[in-house]
Formats: sequence, C-alpha cells, structure tokens
Amino acid sequence: MSGRPELVFNIDPDEYVDLPLYRSRGGFSALKKALASVPESSIGEIKASGLRGRGGAAFPTGKKIEMVRSSSVLERFIICNADEGEPGTFKDRFIMTHLPFQLIEGIAIAAYLAGASEGYIYVRHEYSEVQSKLHAAIRDAIGADLLGDNILGSGYGLSLKIFSGAGSYLCGEETALLSSIEGRKGRPRLKPPYPTESGLWNRPTLINNVETLANIPKILEKGAQWYRSLGTPDSRGTKLISMSGDIQKRGLVEVPFGITFAEIIGRCGDGPKPGRTIKAVNIGGASGVLVPPRMLDTPLEYKACAEAGITIGSGAVFVLDDTRSILQNVRNRIRFFLHESCGKCTPCREGLRQANIILNKLAAGSAGKNDIAALERYTRAMQDASFCGLGQAAGNSLRSSLSYYRKEYSDCCRKNGKTDHKEESA
Ligand SMILES: Cc1cc2nc3c(=O)[nH]c(=O)nc-3n(C[C@H](O)[C@H](O)[C@H](O)COP(=O)(O)O)c2cc1C
Ligand code: SF4
Repeated sequence: MSGRPELVFNIDPDEYVDLPLYRSRGGFSALKKALASVPESSIGEIKASGLRGRGGAAFPTGKKIEMVRSSSVLERFIICNADEGEPGTFKDRFIMTHLPFQLIEGIAIAAYLAGASEGYIYVRHEYSEVQSKLHAAIRDAIGADLLGDNILGSGYGLSLKIFSGAGSYLCGEETALLSSIEGRKGRPRLKPPYPTESGLWNRPTLINNVETLANIPKILEKGAQWYRSLGTPDSRGTKLISMSGDIQKRGLVEVPFGITFAEIIGRCGDGPKPGRTIKAVNIGGASGVLVPPRMLDTPLEYKACAEAGITIGSGAVFVLDDTRSILQNVRNRIRFFLHESCGKCTPCREGLRQANIILNKLAAGSAGKNDIAALERYTRAMQDASFCGLGQAAGNSLRSSLSYYRKEYSDCCRKNGKTDHKEESA
C-alpha cells in the first residue's frame, strides 16, 4: 500500500487479508462505531458519501438501506448478491477470496442499519473456492463475536449463511434470486413491489452487490468526506474494473471514477499487444455495448457514460484488437443470452432466436440487407418490451455494433461466402 494513495480495496493479488491482519488495519472499527450510534446517523453518512450500487443499476445505497429500515414489517432480510454471472467480470470473486472480512463487515453494518437479523450470500456454485473461503471466514467472524447472536456485545445479532446458486445467469437478477432462495424456479418477478418492500418470503429485503457492501466499512471508518474526495461530483468513490481481451496486462484494477476508458486501457492494461491496434471495446460485460476507439475518451462516470450510450454495468472492459470480427463477437453474446433466457416473455425469447438465425446467416454469407433491418427491429423490441433486465439489455452489443460497425454487417451480406475473421469467445 505504501506510496500509493489509499483507495477502498487497495488490491494486492498476492495477499489474503485474514481476520488478524484485517483488524490490525482498522477492520471492524466501522462496525463498532455503527453499533454504538443510532442507525440514522450511519445511514446519513452512507447517503452523504454518494455510494451507488455496483451491481449494474447504480441505485443510491444509503437510500435503499433507508427504504428497508422504514418498513413497518419487523422481520427483514439482507442478501449479498455474489452471483457474478456477467461474462468477463471477476471483481466480486477477488473481494470474496482476498478481502472476505471487508465484505462480512459491510454486510453486518448494512444488516444492522436495515434492521435485518438474517442474511444470505448468494454465490454461484461454480465459485467453489469462494464458497469454502467464505465458510471459513464466517466461522472466524462468529468465533470473534463479529457475527452471531450478540455482535461485539451490542445485543444485536446476525445469522449469515451462504446460499449456493445453480449457475443460471438470470438468478443474478434480484427477484429471480429471491425465488431461487425460496426454492422456486429462478424466474424474475414483476416490480413493483420492490424487494425493499416485499422481498424474501414477502419480507422487506436489502439486496446489494458484493462490491457495494464492501465499500461501506471504509465509508464509515474514514468518513463520507474522504470517500467523496475520490471520484467526481457525479460519481463518488472508486470502481473495480475487470480487464480482459487483447491487452498486455489483464486483471483487476481499482480506479477512481472520472478516469477515461483510454487511460484505464493504456495505463492499467498497458494498451494493445505489440503491433496491434484497438478495434473495439466492450464495456459492461455481455449485456454491455461495443464502442469504437474514438469514444474511449469518455470518463468513467454514470452521467457521462449514459450520455454517450455506454453501460458501465459490472465494470468489465474487454478489448478487441484489429484481428477480431465484430460479427463473431456479437454472435457469441447473442448465443449466450439465447441459452440464458428463461423464455417467459415473447420479445426476449423470440427476439433472441430470430437475431441468432440472422447472425448465423450473416456468418454464412447468405443474409440480405433486409435481414440487417430486421435485426434492428428485433433489438428495439427486446429493449422496449422485455419483461426483465436480461432481455432489455441482451441486444446492447448488437445495437451498438450496428451503429458503429455497420459496414462489417453489410460486407458479410455481400460476400456470399466465408468470412476471413477468426472465431472468438466473448
Ligand atoms: C439478468 C441480470 C443479471 C444480474 N446479475 C447480477 C449479478 O450477478 N450480481 C449483482 O450484484 N447484480 C446483478 N444484477 C443486478 C441485480 O438485479 C440488482 O440490481 C443488484 O444486485 C442490486 O445491488 P446494488 O444496488 O448493490 O447494485 C443482475 C441484473 C440482471 C437484469
Ligand atoms: S426478458 Fe428474457 S429472461 Fe427476462 S423474463 Fe423475459 S424471457 Fe425471461
């Protein structure tokens, strides 16, 4: 950490921060502080920090906690969303395997503030190493009175369990996740009512992403003012970015909001491989957009990105160099969504099926120009009329690539033969 400005996670891939080390660095002092004061004061601090959810929707976290707290129903739950199903995203895994006590402290604080005494960490079953590390960390925390019946002698108790998901991307969506814990099919529910009002077993439930919750201890420990000094007036704090694809240095980085995507790729990822140039960058994972290099000067900020049509999403940045085929990349993404769609609503189920057929025709060189127009219609219908966020966002890469790389689509129509691009996995 020395020499570097202090951030929220201060990533060191070689370090596992166990309980004694975490406490020696001030860990659990924020929980102690929160338990010693009225919840409203800590909620006020979180609201003042400007923290917004890191799971994709960027909803203000303090406000969400307050919504659960203000419920007249006294039985309430907390759920940490650790499904991390977005392809190319591995930030939550890092927190859980390297900084589990920062997450546990964040969950305990948020649960106390929301008035929840029971909680779950919903972890995908593919993350078996994560699950065993979390089990061990929860045991250690209970042993040190940091979880359990009487946390730090305060009289407040939290029972925290791990729930293993079955590997469905859709179960990361908060209402599908609730159904999955309840033992039903992991299908999304109609909103409203929102989980803050009627969540797990119809009780008020606070659902937050791993990264969101793990921000909370630092905010209470160092104060909202310190947190606000990181980032920009529009977007406070830092963001974990999962970087992959055709860059020299892949991996996880923590950056303050306000940095541009060009800086993230150039400074943190050391740019494209020698002799290659960047053709496109996928921002926000499979449900994100594909943007050309000229848009990389956009700052990582919620407002600036929304204005530029960029979805920050889970914070995945996947670089495609000049050897890649946009069409193949988009085709892989559409196939992924076709596989993950639950089929409950027509725009998503049929839109993805038709888009996949046309993309296959384009790849085979047998598509006509009218197929491209149809692709645009299906994308719009999915975005406007799908029941849940999966279908609404599934066409983002298609829509953005049709705007910025249309020539690749029309070239495939004309060729009437094989494409010469290499296959790739999104
Ligand atoms: C299809 C789909 C998948 C999602 N997957 C995840 C996920 O893996 N992890 C996550 O935290 N949020 C995921 N979300 C967002 C959640 O529904 C929810 O907004 C989030 O957990 C709220 O936490 P936050 O306020 O801390 O961001 C997903 C949403 C959709 C539509
Ligand atoms: S949008 Fe797709 S995943 Fe969501 S409910 Fe409809 S069919 Fe299911």
